[in-house]
Amino acid sequence: MQKIVIQGGRRLGGTVTVSGSKNAGLPLLFASLLTRERCTIRGLPRVADITTSLRLLEGLGALVGDDQFASIVVEARALSSSEAPYDLVKTMRASFLALGPLVARTGRARVSTPGGCAIGSRPIDIHLAGLERLGARIRQSHGYVEAEATRLRGARITLDFPSVGATENLLMAATLADGTTVIENAAREPEIEDLAAALVTMGARISGAGTNEIRIDGVRELGGCDHSVIADRIEAGTLLIAAAITGGEVHVIGARADHLGALLAKLDEAGVVLAAVSDGITVRAGGVLRTADIRTSPYPGFPTDLQAQFMALMALGDGQSAIIETIFENRFMHVQELARMGADIRVDGRTATVRGVAALSGAPVMATDLRASVCLVLAGLAAQNTTEVSRVYHLDRGYERLEEKLSALGADIVRVRA
Ligand code: EPU
Repeated sequence: MQKIVIQGGRRLGGTVTVSGSKNAGLPLLFASLLTRERCTIRGLPRVADITTSLRLLEGLGALVGDDQFASIVVEARALSSSEAPYDLVKTMRASFLALGPLVARTGRARVSTPGGCAIGSRPIDIHLAGLERLGARIRQSHGYVEAEATRLRGARITLDFPSVGATENLLMAATLADGTTVIENAAREPEIEDLAAALVTMGARISGAGTNEIRIDGVRELGGCDHSVIADRIEAGTLLIAAAITGGEVHVIGARADHLGALLAKLDEAGVVLAAVSDGITVRAGGVLRTADIRTSPYPGFPTDLQAQFMALMALGDGQSAIIETIFENRFMHVQELARMGADIRVDGRTATVRGVAALSGAPVMATDLRASVCLVLAGLAAQNTTEVSRVYHLDRGYERLEEKLSALGADIVRVRA
């Protein structure tokens, strides 16, 4: 077990580069199951969820090669299994993205149901209803979903909610279906556009990715790809908030204003000074940190994956803010830990009311999920004295070399054995 120890109160300054996107990289890896040919994916972050996905792909019979993660090569020439087992799916929900590609390519898939997780119950009904519309026969037994279809056939699918994962699963499955699929009420996240762009280079026929209606004309087979993953907009947003919360000034290379519109608008409202430059975004803390209300919603709304980090910032704002979480029913697990650091936050259902305090005080804290953990790191950077964040494995699922990047910006942060 490791923990992160932070001596707070250092202003961050300098330049930092955002890693490749975890949430774009994961579906890209599963897309490699759709073809016998080699897929090279560049810029994947070196994080635990990517490593878990590679183990899953190897378990299915794919050959995986990596060049120190600068690029990953996956070749799923012959698949020896069509089963994604419980021990991998339980550690990473995104493994469920194996379902669509496997049934589309091999006619059969057996994938463990992911179960709930720290942030909510996270059902899979939208994925399954969509696959049934594509003609798959679905059975659930013994904790597994089994899907079968000689060949999927295109259909018009209207999602009950613009689920990111369901859109990705159905988009991938539909590329090999017989005929045309239209996904209505599709998720519009940049990660979906990136997946579609890679699939198109593999020979898929897709239009409308990035809008709420995606059209896919199925093809018989797909070829390989050589694709560079987009920069991680959630890591970029986290780094912008790190600069703001420490009163610093940072140039975040790879941060894209077009992917971060909702966050940038709220930071601007809070008085943080931002400028989009050719290779990223520069951020400078303004004078007084004002408060802003947020409501999480599907892209292009305010991302749930930045809610905890923004709450840490608002904990030090000059006034009161309302933070409404609409995507996950249990994504306020960081509130109690922030309160242990002196934050004044009251939760009522899906709304957290944050009353800014003049200072946070360092404390030993722990978190239950990835974004909650990084919110505590941010709070620790701004707090007086020492903060120790335990259960660092949550952070390692999705942030690459975080303490190294923050140290290079002047933070006093180290990883130690607990
Ligand atoms: N939902 C259903 N039924 C379904 C699918 C989803 O009810 O069949 C509900 C979920 O329970 C949730 C909401 O719809 O309340 C949104 O879920 P969505 O499917 O959009 O999320 P996801 O695909 O499981 C991805 C990211 C999450 C991110 C969400 C929302 C990946 C690997 N994960 O999850 O990222 O929070 O979209 O933007 O892309 C993270 O990186 O920390 C993380 C949790």
